[in-house]
Amino acid sequence: MASLKRRIDSLVEQINRHNLLYYVLDEPEISDAEYDRLFRELRELEAAHPELAPADSPTRRVGAPPAEGFAKVRRRIPMLSLDNAMEEAELRAFDERVRRLLGRPEPVAYVGELKLDGAGVDLIYQDGELQVGATRGDGHLGEDVTANLKQIYTIPIALPTRGGPPGRVSVRGEVVLPLAAFQRLNERREKQGEEPFANPRNAAAGALRQLHDIDLARLHALQFRAYAIAEGRPARLRTQMQVLETLEGWGFPVTPEYERCEDVEAALDYHARMLTRRDKLPIEVDGTVFKLDRLDFQEEVGNLPRSPRWAIAYKFPAQQATTVVESIFASVGRTGALTPVAKLRPVRVGGVTVSSASLHNQDEIDRKDVRVGDTVVIQRAGDVIPQIVSVVQAKRRAGARRWRLPKRCPVCRADAVRLEGEAVTRCPNLDCPAQLKNNLRHLASRGALDVDGLGEKLVDQLVECGLVKRVSDVFALDAETLAGLERMAEKSAGNLVRALERARETSFARLLIALGIRHVGAGVADVVAGHFGGDLEALTKATQEDLEAIEGVGPTIAESLVRFFADKRNRAEIRRLSELGVRWPKERRSARPRGPLAGKTFVLTGGLESMTRDEARERIEAAGGRITGSVSKKTDFVVAGAEPGSKLRRAEELEIPILDEKALLRLLEK
Ligand code: IVH
Repeated sequence: MASLKRRIDSLVEQINRHNLLYYVLDEPEISDAEYDRLFRELRELEAAHPELAPADSPTRRVGAPPAEGFAKVRRRIPMLSLDNAMEEAELRAFDERVRRLLGRPEPVAYVGELKLDGAGVDLIYQDGELQVGATRGDGHLGEDVTANLKQIYTIPIALPTRGGPPGRVSVRGEVVLPLAAFQRLNERREKQGEEPFANPRNAAAGALRQLHDIDLARLHALQFRAYAIAEGRPARLRTQMQVLETLEGWGFPVTPEYERCEDVEAALDYHARMLTRRDKLPIEVDGTVFKLDRLDFQEEVGNLPRSPRWAIAYKFPAQQATTVVESIFASVGRTGALTPVAKLRPVRVGGVTVSSASLHNQDEIDRKDVRVGDTVVIQRAGDVIPQIVSVVQAKRRAGARRWRLPKRCPVCRADAVRLEGEAVTRCPNLDCPAQLKNNLRHLASRGALDVDGLGEKLVDQLVECGLVKRVSDVFALDAETLAGLERMAEKSAGNLVRALERARETSFARLLIALGIRHVGAGVADVVAGHFGGDLEALTKATQEDLEAIEGVGPTIAESLVRFFADKRNRAEIRRLSELGVRWPKERRSARPRGPLAGKTFVLTGGLESMTRDEARERIEAAGGRITGSVSKKTDFVVAGAEPGSKLRRAEELEIPILDEKALLRLLEK
């Protein structure tokens, strides 16, 4: 009993501390998943031993008391939190409990919504006019952040006079920072030497709670999404579906992905579908929320002190986790770049196990100050490679030392160089086996010459035994030599020879990719190949100006191409590839486009209503226009749909005409 009591006290203390870090200081030290674990453990212990539960346990409270500095707003109806389900069985258990409380054996319907990862707020309107807006605070007492909330474009200052609600109305919802804006904000902070925010939620909460020297741009980047009417709900409303529709009618933005789910099976299906869309959404979503659709049922089931019994959040797998940096080493890339990589204690995040993360370069290491032994917050979003978001300074061990890239290449021992003004440190030795291996892997990759069967191990072997001393050597290999290699049977040797035979017949664009020229990926290779129509000779002789004149080729790419072809060794490599049978058909140079939009370049950002992006591309191209991926001075128009990304901002900076969907349609119809 005594040890149980000690554990409970320790959990209470830890949770209170993390609440303060999270809600008041906007500086969490642990991941949400870890917090949830502590919370669950406490709740389970308290449920088993109610006599040991302290009266002021965090399980009975929401969040943390409001910070000093803001006026306090006392709520008539507390702003509750949500109970969490982490897996299917817990959602089913929730459904069973709800039906038991209602005394209904038959299925009940829920509304599925996205769980937005932002800062909960409520907005009090008096006779249609916004009077007070407050953060959640501890649920009962919130912080008055009205002035800041009024800067958010999507929060109505006044409700419609006709059809709008009279009297006092409290609308609740989430203030979120779209991911694109979050990335921009963090880039700016890092450039200015400030700590980046751990996630969009902290950035949103931080922006809302600015007291002095208010940064308006940060507030303007925020958005609001409504999901509840806590006070002043029109009596005619019977369901949560109607609540959401009413909010939309009053002019509040509501996340469009809400759906009625007839039973728990439909709810599970909704959750699974939303999980697959998670990475495509413009804002961070950490799960789904299910609410009893019928409002009379909600009332019947009632609330607990901290959360309603009629709703639950079903969390997505965490995309952030904390782990420990076991070591840091420098890996040598295709271009000789020495990239620091952190080896991590394996940890599951976003549904996969992560055991390493790139630290990019020395500046990044210095900025984040990552040291061996540190506890770090890592993040994985979608297919993106895992990143170290921040170091948990409080957990740093005494004596941990700053990490520096080695002075020499760890593979060939050549002196590493870092050019003035460059972030990257490189191994300058073009014969460095690490570079050769990576170049060969790159040449064999799918997007380049696509040599089936030339995998990692074989590349290592070919370089280590000296059969390949420069990349083109791979095309000089014959079946007999290959069959002599360890672990290489006659059959696989024959397969590889045939794969090389197929790879020899390629396209100009693929060849350009295979050469591994810096800044030349698939997109640029297509553009350049199209322009030169397979004429390598002409490309080799092109000047910086010639190249910059090509649509889609900027100064950096042009310079990289010129530098590459100026190098004798590179030209010799290309000659040799050709001698060893690599060929690409000469294509007709891309014909001059015709049509009303001939020669005009478009960039698309955000979603369109009347057509998909692919349809928009087809129609613009059919009219002679071209689509490129990024906004530059050469862009003629930027088409901005719903939830546009950073491209819109860039277009504004460069003063490029911005079209909405209607304007685009008019242009196409012309
Ligand atoms: S309903 C009493 N719906 O998640 C019902 N909350 O972890 C509580 N949240 O405090 C709110 N998306 O700040 C609701 N679609 C949604 C939500 C949502 C995000 C937030 C909200 C809440 C927290 C609970």
